[in-house]
Amino acid sequence: MNATPTISKPEHIAIIMDGNGRWAKSKGLPRVAGHRAGVKALRKLIEHSVKIKLNVITVYAFSRENWQRPKSEVDLLMDLFISALNSEVKDLNKNNVKLTFIGVRTAFSRKLQNSINESELLTSSNTGLCLNIAINYSGRWDIVQAYQAIAKEIVSNKIAIEDVDEVLISNKLSLAAHKDPELFIRTGGEQRISNYLLWQTAYTELYFTETLWPDFDTKQFDIAIDWFSKRQRRFGKTPEQVELTQN
Ligand code: IPE
Ligand code: IPE
Ligand code: MG
Repeated sequence: MNATPTISKPEHIAIIMDGNGRWAKSKGLPRVAGHRAGVKALRKLIEHSVKIKLNVITVYAFSRENWQRPKSEVDLLMDLFISALNSEVKDLNKNNVKLTFIGVRTAFSRKLQNSINESELLTSSNTGLCLNIAINYSGRWDIVQAYQAIAKEIVSNKIAIEDVDEVLISNKLSLAAHKDPELFIRTGGEQRISNYLLWQTAYTELYFTETLWPDFDTKQFDIAIDWFSKRQRRFGKTPEQVELTQN
């Protein structure tokens, strides 16, 4: 891995948008109201990201574990994904945002799959912010599907076992098109990865905030980016070595 000296703005930010349910509960509202407010917060964050010219954002919208929630909440979430996608895609396209979904989409209704496919197609040649949405995604699933793809290539003699290295595995993962996230943000106070980008966060700076996702505004996003810009990224080296390469 190439060590990059401290840079001020991360090229790739991964976000776990957590705390919608608690936000709603604190206001005496149903959980789905929190998810609706969460979509609004994401919209603002994307607009801001376009404005400050960020390159890549990968957000966790629905984990494979989230299927275990009550059916009523899952159903409402699926409806919300469809309506949010259909109402936002035109503006995203106008803003030159390229949308990509990672995760197993065949588990979704035809309607949601169509919205996902159409929005990807519509924005596929855009050159601005890359917005990756992890939906029915989990980090372990991603690693398993990468291993399966590699095993197939070995069995069919396309590659040899000796060809399997970190670069090859990275290239088989869902985010192969992007470099690893430099900054990870999780709202909602929990300090865990929850099966998100396990492989890709090997050297990511982890930022946790108590703020619940619907309350996470652009000001707080800027604070997280500013926090990142002050981190010394050492990649195993000593602080002195890193300082030397920066001067
Ligand atoms: C994150 O908020 C959104 C999804 C997982 C879909 P939560 O729904 O997990 O909110 P909390 O953690 O219960 O507050
Ligand atoms: C992680 O949040 C998944 C998403 C934000 C989509 P959860 O709320 O599901 O995570 P846990 O279960 O508390 O770890
Ligand atoms: Mg949660």
